[in-house]
Amino acid sequence: MFKLKRSAALAALCLLAALPAAAEEIGARAKGGFAESFFLEKVPRAEAKATAERLAKAVIAARLIIFAYAGKFVDPNLGDKGFSGEVFETQWRAALEPDMLDATPTQKRLYEKLIWAGRQVIENNQDRLNFKGVGWKNFLPAKWEREMGGVFTAKTGIVIKQPGRAYRNPVNVPDDTERAALIHYVKAGHNENAPIRKTEKWGKQEVYRHMEPIRLMPPCLPCHGKPKGELDLVNFEKDGLETGDLIGLMSVSLAVSD
Ligand code: HEC
Repeated sequence: MFKLKRSAALAALCLLAALPAAAEEIGARAKGGFAESFFLEKVPRAEAKATAERLAKAVIAARLIIFAYAGKFVDPNLGDKGFSGEVFETQWRAALEPDMLDATPTQKRLYEKLIWAGRQVIENNQDRLNFKGVGWKNFLPAKWEREMGGVFTAKTGIVIKQPGRAYRNPVNVPDDTERAALIHYVKAGHNENAPIRKTEKWGKQEVYRHMEPIRLMPPCLPCHGKPKGELDLVNFEKDGLETGDLIGLMSVSLAVSD
């Protein structure tokens, strides 16, 4: 018996020794490579700040348009919600029009790509939104933004995301810079709303970063409010937060060119 165990242990040791030294942690992130922002859209340095601000503002405007339909979305008796990609685009363009008027050519191109990405996501969710007989359809401004961000990044290389204070979707995990910004806003309290701006290197590429707080409003509280730990209607534990508290960030990262 002892002999058997010993030979099994020896065999295991031999196997370990046979593994190449380079095989480090399995499932770890690959080293090197290029950030997606190496490709496609780059924003002239002088326009980086205003462009990131404009993109963040445009996404917040879209979130509000979608939020206004929240009551309709959860009506189980209503089939077609009348919120087609076209309806959404028309409303979004109306909200963006004043800003689009004096945009630079780069910014105009990015507005168009942003609107295109946002519309794609609304169109892609029509079956879900218009489903009859079910109240909760798992569609929220945050879901639209996550999916739109994926499409927009694929089209431009510019990253738009909403890292969460206690993120529900893993796509919204903050990176180190975003985590520092979240901590800053939590510590600074309700009145600190000035965006955090930073320039970083992603690989060899200079990247301009813009982060601003997303704060809770009363309609957000059934899921993100009190009591902390109680399950919300999607079975996540509530955050235990109040109106005005920080829940996440609007985060825009874009490659800069000279
Ligand atoms: C019905 C419950 C519910 C309500 C109400 C709600 N949220 Fe959320 N929130 C979620 C869920 C679920 C996600 C994950 C969405 C996804 O990515 O699919 C989320 C994600 C988020 C995120 C991204 C970070 C993360 O957790 O993944 C932010 C920011 C956010 N919500 C803010 C708000 C704000 C602001 C409001 C009010 C305007 C609000 N939420 C209302 C459930 C809710």
